Amino acid sequence: MSTITEGYLNHKIFGIVSETAAEMGVRAFVIGGYVRDCFLGRSNDDIDIVVEGRGIELAEAVGQKVRSKVSVFRNFGTAMLRFEGMEIEFVGARKESYHRESRNPIVEDGTLEEDQLRRDFTINAMAFSLQKEDFGALVDPFGGIRDLAAGVIRTPRDPDETYSDDPLRMLRAVRFATKLSTPEHPFAIVPESMDSIRRMAPRMEILSRERIAEELNKILLCPRPSMGFRLMDEAGMLPYVLPDLQALKGVETMDGKGHKENFSHTLQVLDNVAEVDGGKLWLRWAALLHDIGKPRSKRFAPGLGWTFHGHNVIGAKMVPGIFKSLKMTQGDEMKYVQKLVDLHLRPIALVDEEVTDSAVRRLLFDAGNDIGDLMILCNADITSKNPAKVARIRANFELVKQKMSEVEQKDEIRNFKNPIDGAYVMEVFGIPPCQEIGILKEAVKNAILDGEIGNNFAEADALMRQKAAEIGLHPVK
Ligand code: CTP
Repeated sequence: MSTITEGYLNHKIFGIVSETAAEMGVRAFVIGGYVRDCFLGRSNDDIDIVVEGRGIELAEAVGQKVRSKVSVFRNFGTAMLRFEGMEIEFVGARKESYHRESRNPIVEDGTLEEDQLRRDFTINAMAFSLQKEDFGALVDPFGGIRDLAAGVIRTPRDPDETYSDDPLRMLRAVRFATKLSTPEHPFAIVPESMDSIRRMAPRMEILSRERIAEELNKILLCPRPSMGFRLMDEAGMLPYVLPDLQALKGVETMDGKGHKENFSHTLQVLDNVAEVDGGKLWLRWAALLHDIGKPRSKRFAPGLGWTFHGHNVIGAKMVPGIFKSLKMTQGDEMKYVQKLVDLHLRPIALVDEEVTDSAVRRLLFDAGNDIGDLMILCNADITSKNPAKVARIRANFELVKQKMSEVEQKDEIRNFKNPIDGAYVMEVFGIPPCQEIGILKEAVKNAILDGEIGNNFAEADALMRQKAAEIGLHPVK
């Protein structure tokens, strides 16, 4: 099949690469994601050029013409340059295979078709010719266009070979199916590929955790990320990706009573968040992990049923280990996820109680600037199938939000800073660093949060002096 598609190659960079390749006597093609996305009507500024010859030399010659710096990665035989907002990567066509126990490929020069054959999926193996005589012709020996139209993820070769060469491709299959699916045009992994993944999933053990985490992040950022996790589950990949998520699966029954199926619930919450968050990766991580402590906190109380007391605290404690196991950051992003997992029950608990100013103030204090995200998570967590119950909770939830904005306007608790600091306490009472300082500061903080005094220096100072007298401390002046 040869389709003329020059409309997709209007940008002048393609003409320049074409001309330079002709001068050097080599054949060059646009390949991979850019070609796929042209047919899907998606924009893509990453262009991959494959050359039957030296990719680095072509890149350097093009770089000179467009006066752009070329970054060369000799180990990989690739080179990259930036031009008018596009990132263009050059590589020589190759055939390659991998050692069974390593990801280091044995690379040999190859033809375009050999290069296409070694790629991950048919939809990623299509190429546009950059030769003058058939500029823009689609070169698609493995039926990428057919598979794109049918919405299937299929490997050009026997899937066992493709996945064995690079086991990350199993996760990439999940990612592309999830990312490319729309309600009008769903994508699926073909059954023989799913079967192969089920067999090959243990090969994921050889992958670096960083590469797995990168794919997970991309899956999480898809419009409906639940699909990715369901596919991972169906293909038996969860134990190699996120074993704690696997533990959420299933329903136990005792005395005829079952509990909520926590895996489906988690995925529903994740999609609910993704619908409204505008692409916040770490909020999505918080959604994915919000109930991760449930299996460890699960108890059955006769007469009462199933309980998951303290699952938020247990879950929050698990977050650093989960991030570490994926070699992800232990910094602010992890702490943010941990905080949201810890606090995710608080807004909804307020809904069930009487919404007092002091409870709202404490929540604002604990959540700080992440209160908006916490409210998104908490709202997304309402997944009951009983419409009357959902309506009641949502109405009360609005009440909590309203109360929050009132308290916020009045007391500015969100960025709470204690009007009394340690240095001031030491100066007033002439004391060295000691635990009394903490006691006094805590008393002031609690009095402000409980609404006993205003959030200002004068009232805080008076309360500090009163509390100090009670514990036998007196001002030096
Ligand atoms: N590729 C592959 N096997 C991999 C990674 C990449 O065969 N493990 C090939 C695919 O042909 C892919 C191309 O290299 O299209 C470029 O890879 P990448 O930039 O990761 O993916 P894109 O397809 O460009 O998709 P996106 O930019 O959306 O991630």
